[in-house]
Amino acid sequence: MSRFLEGPPIPQVLLSTMPSLLMARENLAALDFMKQHNETTPKLFVAFARRFEEMSIYKDEILEDAARLHDIGKGHPFIAGLLSIKDKLDNAQEYIMHLHPAVGRQILLNAGHEDIDPQVQVAYSHHENWDGTGYPQGLRGEEIPLIARVFSVVDAFDAMTHARPYRKGVYTSEQAFEELKKFRRTQFDPEVVKTFIENFSAIQKEL
Ligand SMILES: [Fe+2]
Ligand SMILES: [Fe+2]
Repeated sequence: MSRFLEGPPIPQVLLSTMPSLLMARENLAALDFMKQHNETTPKLFVAFARRFEEMSIYKDEILEDAARLHDIGKGHPFIAGLLSIKDKLDNAQEYIMHLHPAVGRQILLNAGHEDIDPQVQVAYSHHENWDGTGYPQGLRGEEIPLIARVFSVVDAFDAMTHARPYRKGVYTSEQAFEELKKFRRTQFDPEVVKTFIENFSAIQKEL
C-alpha cells in the first residue's frame, strides 16, 4: 500500500548528535507548551481512535504512548532550540524543523522500536498530507497509515485550541472545526475530519 518513498536523509551533524529516547523526552518536557500538548493529546487520541474499527487492534496504552512520542524528534537539541523562536522560521530553520518526524523515527528505532510499531508510524507520518504535499515521504491519501491520519487531526485540534509561542490567541472548538473543514482533502483525511466533528461532544464526555 505505502510507496515507502525515502524522505530527505538526516544530515550527519544531526545523526552524530542524536539523543537517546530518555534525553529527547527530557528536552521536550522542559518546554511548557510541549508538556501541555503531551498531556492532552493522549486521552483525546484514545477516545477518538475508538470511533474507528480498524484501530481496535491497538491497546489504549500503546495509543497514549504514540501520542506522547509523536514529536519526540523535536527533543533533538538542534530542533528543540528552534521551538521557542517567536518569529517565522527562516528556510534553513524550517528545513531542520521538518526533519523532526525522521529524527523521531530514528530515536525510536535506536530505542528498539520497529517501523511497524504504532509509535513509529505516528512519529514518522503525522505530517503527511492527504493530497501528498506533506513530509517526510509525501505519501498521499490511504498510503498514509490510518493511525497517523487519525492522529494528525487530534494534533491539529489540540494545537489550535491551546496557546503557542508562535501564535496569538486560542481557537474555540467551533473555530478549530472550521479550520479542519477548510483543510480536509488537502491536509486531512476528509472522513477522519467528519468523524471527529460528528463525535466531538461524545468524545469530550469521555476525557
Ligand atoms: Fe510534529
Ligand atoms: Fe504535535
